[in-house]
Amino acid sequence: MTASTPKSNHDAIADNTLDASMPRHPESRLQSEWLFLYDKLPPDQWFSNDYVYKTSFWLSIHADIRKRQHVLIQISDAYHAGDIEWLEYRSQISSRINQYIFKLHQHHNIEDTGYFPQFMRMYPQLKAGFEILDRDHVHLDTLLNELQVLNSRLASSNTEDKALVEQLHQRLMDASELLSQHLTDEEDLVIPILGLN
Ligand SMILES: [Fe+2]
Ligand SMILES: [Fe+2]
Repeated sequence: MTASTPKSNHDAIADNTLDASMPRHPESRLQSEWLFLYDKLPPDQWFSNDYVYKTSFWLSIHADIRKRQHVLIQISDAYHAGDIEWLEYRSQISSRINQYIFKLHQHHNIEDTGYFPQFMRMYPQLKAGFEILDRDHVHLDTLLNELQVLNSRLASSNTEDKALVEQLHQRLMDASELLSQHLTDEEDLVIPILGLN
């Protein structure tokens, strides 16, 4: 993870760097007129007793996704740094990539078919915001499909293939960059809806 990676909710709350009136990602795509709920329920209240029972399930799924992503990049970095050998790299990363892809597809499917349509019916004025998140899912699907193809090649590669590792690393970084913005924008839109309803 780079120094510019957005802080987790807990970290940001812990060191008081959140500005409650602003979306948190430095390149947030949320328009100010979509933040009327965010302004009523800013992130420093998401884990308070009044709201945590309604918000934590969503935030914990996102925390799990961020953690999985972090571990994958750590393994990739360890191989690049020469800390682990090819066979250990392959055995550590291959099944974790499959689980990461599975979890993301599962989560996006529930959002696309259940939650997002429901939220748009509740708040039609937020439709354009959810359309951004929908497009992210389509873009992520493409990246995850590419990652799956590369990971299948990895599973059957018995000899060291540095070019393949490089391609995998690049796809992981691409997915990580898009997800860091997607998850944060999504939380700023969705968590206040969950908390206030
Ligand atoms: Fe999403
Ligand atoms: Fe999500």
